[in-house]
Amino acid sequence: MTLATTEPNPLLEVTDLRTHFYTEEGELRAVNGVSFALARGRTLALVGESGCGKSVTAQSVLRLIQPPGRIVGGSVRLHRGPGEPPLEVLEERESSPALFELRGGRAALIFQEATAALSPVHTIGTQILEASRTHQKLSKKEATQLALDMLERVGIQDPALCLRQYPHELSGGMRQRAVIAMALVSNPELVIADEPTTALDVTIQAQVLSLLKSLQQKLNLAILLITHDLGVVAQMADEVVVMYLGRVVERGPVRGILKKPRHPYTIGLLESLPSLTPIGKRLPSIRGSVPALSDIPPGCPFHTRCTYAVAGRCNVGAPPPLEAFSAPGAPSEERFVACWRTREVALERLMQRPAEVAPSEPPPLARPLEDHSERVTQTAVPPAVGLVRPGADLSAGLPATVGVAAADGLGPDPRGTAAGTLVLDERPEDKLAADRTEAEWFDGSDVQSVRESDEDEEPRS
Ligand SMILES: Nc1ncnc2c1ncn2[C@@H]1O[C@H](COP(=O)(O)OP(=O)(O)O)[C@@H](O)[C@H]1O
Ligand code: SF4
Ligand SMILES: [Mg+2]
Repeated sequence: MTLATTEPNPLLEVTDLRTHFYTEEGELRAVNGVSFALARGRTLALVGESGCGKSVTAQSVLRLIQPPGRIVGGSVRLHRGPGEPPLEVLEERESSPALFELRGGRAALIFQEATAALSPVHTIGTQILEASRTHQKLSKKEATQLALDMLERVGIQDPALCLRQYPHELSGGMRQRAVIAMALVSNPELVIADEPTTALDVTIQAQVLSLLKSLQQKLNLAILLITHDLGVVAQMADEVVVMYLGRVVERGPVRGILKKPRHPYTIGLLESLPSLTPIGKRLPSIRGSVPALSDIPPGCPFHTRCTYAVAGRCNVGAPPPLEAFSAPGAPSEERFVACWRTREVALERLMQRPAEVAPSEPPPLARPLEDHSERVTQTAVPPAVGLVRPGADLSAGLPATVGVAAADGLGPDPRGTAAGTLVLDERPEDKLAADRTEAEWFDGSDVQSVRESDEDEEPRS
């Protein structure tokens, strides 16, 4: 069992959660000892390939598992106000008012398919009003006003018209906005969003994500985000939990995970991103596919696909436990990794780096900004960290894997390929230059998602 959290004041604490399915193929351990924690105002992303147990984890948090599934162990704790005992979700009776209050009240669920969440035979208004009045004592008039306000908040142009419409009369993006409005009218503290944008076009997806983010800030929501898309993770998450075959294999802050993945599975997921692969080169992927839960390999469950696996060590015995890992020189990494060879993997990756990657002298681009108002923050994934003066000469001395996004004032990428993005940060350049370990770890990660800059974000209400 691993500690649930490094979060000081979590709203949700999941500890050693186990959910199994009892099928003809045997006992399938879909969720097998998962622990994490999530605080108000924060987003935790559960990531992993299809079938890794993300959705079952989320459903278990709300105790929505149906036979042949059963939650067989662990705890799910939802904290309340100061001095109040937390809600122990797994210990409540099925008919308890606290559980009723949790589902659709304190916690809201947003699914991938908006159509699945909406009844085709009722208007949006009827459905939103029902959602709000189930958990709050509201008159019809108050509930209607709340629905109108919420529809406006989620960016529906004509809320009054939308209330009268049926789901099929709305576009996919509008439907997902309506579902988000429906999820939020009950004033939840926790939103569980299971692949909320997977079914949407890329542009609509970006709008819905940015909507969720701004609503989170205004309402101080804790978001448990389930996704297989690392671009979405980069844009949304504060903390990342990587799952493989029902287990957590890596957990840590988003910047660290995307910049320096430590578990070979996370490394594989990141390396499979199209944006990291030069045009014309074959897209790397993790070899093989996720084994069936009825046929979990012995030893480390990932060993059949792992390029770092060592026979006799990785393919025998018990799976590696999730343990705190800190790299030399980076004690505050706050990383948990389930791999017998985390240190060796880190070293091997360091040795594999092309010679030209390690800059022999301080990169000339890394000069401090005198005026921080010109800070062009921030890409979601930081393959490089440094400060740059808008208009600075970026034509020499770049580590090979670091590219520069063509952001206002920065000028174009000097090598014409934005394999990475220079992330502007408050770190002084001398630290950047002096810290060789750090410099050598400029991995060049996914840069497709761009977070709004701090300056652009609306203040919390
Ligand atoms: N109703 C079910 N009956 C049997 N097995 C199930 C059921 N739901 C999920 N599982 C098992 O749990 C695994 C994890 O499912 P899920 O959490 O939905 O994966 P994902 O990570 O794609 O969200 C599945 O691969 C499947 O083996
Ligand atoms: S324990 Fe071995 S097989 Fe598993 S991830 Fe680590 S190196 Fe790969
Ligand atoms: Mg799923």
